[in-house]
Amino acid sequence: MPDLLITPGSLLDRIRRKVRQLAGRPDPSPWVLYPHRPAAARGRIDFVIALDYMTMNGGMIDQLHRAMSRYGLSTLLVNRQNVDRVLRLARLGRIRPAVFLDLCSTRNDPYEQLLHTLADQGVHTLRDPSQTKWIVKASAHRLLQPHVPVPPTVVFAKEEADRDLTVAERELLGDRVAIKPSCGGAGRGVRLNVEPTLQNIADARAQDRSDDWLVQRMMPFVMLGDRIGYFRLYNVLGHLNVMWWSPSDHHYATFTWADLDRYRLWPLLGIAHRIAQITRMEYFSVEAAYTGEEGPHRLCLIDYVNDQCDMDAFNPGCPPPEWTAWVCERLALRTYQVKHRIAVEEQCSVTLAGAPPVALRDLPMDIDADLANRADAKIFGSERT
Ligand SMILES: Nc1ncnc2c1ncn2[C@@H]1O[C@H](COP(=O)(O)OP(=O)(O)O)[C@@H](O)[C@H]1O
Ligand SMILES: [Mg+2]
Repeated sequence: MPDLLITPGSLLDRIRRKVRQLAGRPDPSPWVLYPHRPAAARGRIDFVIALDYMTMNGGMIDQLHRAMSRYGLSTLLVNRQNVDRVLRLARLGRIRPAVFLDLCSTRNDPYEQLLHTLADQGVHTLRDPSQTKWIVKASAHRLLQPHVPVPPTVVFAKEEADRDLTVAERELLGDRVAIKPSCGGAGRGVRLNVEPTLQNIADARAQDRSDDWLVQRMMPFVMLGDRIGYFRLYNVLGHLNVMWWSPSDHHYATFTWADLDRYRLWPLLGIAHRIAQITRMEYFSVEAAYTGEEGPHRLCLIDYVNDQCDMDAFNPGCPPPEWTAWVCERLALRTYQVKHRIAVEEQCSVTLAGAPPVALRDLPMDIDADLANRADAKIFGSERT
């Protein structure tokens, strides 16, 4: 049955690709990963990954394939070449992997439909459709605000007319704001460091009237040593993890236990842990900034919950390949556990810079420090949503 799912390039197609590669003009169109042989022979697909920007992520797919193979697990890559076919077969109940990871869906596209179809059939999807509210910035803002520091924000619902901010809102947001769409991604539609005028708000919203928009206080990012105080926080299947990330050139750098101590950054772990607890999402990243302010906004969440984490490898501006390999290992282990119904102990740990994991409860520091005042939610953001 699996051969129904796969569109192997013909011999001619493979020769054509090889020639183009040798000529220095590689074919950028997506290709399909064959399930690992022995499992394919039994007609079983264990892990399905939806990813539609293959050439950039070729290195990661290779790492994933290797990690899965070590557990004897097969992987099917879903991309534009086979998504309709896979969706059709999933609807017929003819494809039922242990785990599905969606790294490319947008609203109501076939990948999103695949996610829903597989989840309905009891497949372990690494973002349950019921968790969609966490990846939509407007609802995430409202739901996260009582628990973690977020930028003061005014949300314009899509049905709301353009208008000036009220005096109170203007006071809350300050003179410089970020304006961003609720369902954005990869910086699409984001306007930074603009004045919160009616004109600027209207211009931004004109880009997409079908979405809600957030108008946020522009948070400062302060240098820590020779790095910008900006981070990607991850929950990778129960492991909290932090990476330095530069919002200007999108470069990642490894974050160490020494960094955590040197700059008193343990509340970053508190933020990531709370989000993991509240959302129950097994795999996500968020962005947080060191603002240099004292008090509850010293460390502040900037981008809310991303379920489609960047796992590109071996390219400039991507997470280090060791990191991606580590994530692939975790995905493979979890797929093995789900496939064989091995109970997973609910315990959170911190894994930094490839060092062995440390259980959260064994940490010597107070990871909730600086979040202590959160009971007064108003300090974190506006009440309007
Ligand atoms: N309130 C803010 N203050 C300062 N910078 C911001 C703010 N919101 C967004 N940014 C900057 O804009 C970038 C893109 O915004 P983000 O919310 O991450 O949207 P996307 O989901 O498209 O990545 C962020 O990485 C950050 O550098
Ligand atoms: Mg972002």
